[in-house]
Amino acid sequence: MAMITARRAADTPFAINVEAGKDYWWCACGQSNNQPFCDGSHRGTGMTPVRTEITEAKKVAWCGCKHAAGGSVFCDGSHRKL
Ligand code: FES
Ligand code: FES
Repeated sequence: MAMITARRAADTPFAINVEAGKDYWWCACGQSNNQPFCDGSHRGTGMTPVRTEITEAKKVAWCGCKHAAGGSVFCDGSHRKL
């Protein structure tokens, strides 16, 4: 069976200001035109977005390469090794 691989949407993270008490849907497939968030383009890929609950207002470095360790939605520097 072929392994589903996410499209590398960007070489670096997306730094975005987020609001407390809001859910964000991070694009896992890399196909969204609204990176780093899902716009529904994953249909047919077998992949789905990752719901991320934000509890405090801050700036988040969302993973854009889609290859952070463990499939994390947050950049962990793994993009530097790709
Ligand atoms: Fe990528 Fe929805 S568009 S997960
Ligand atoms: Fe994916 Fe940094 S952008 S690990």
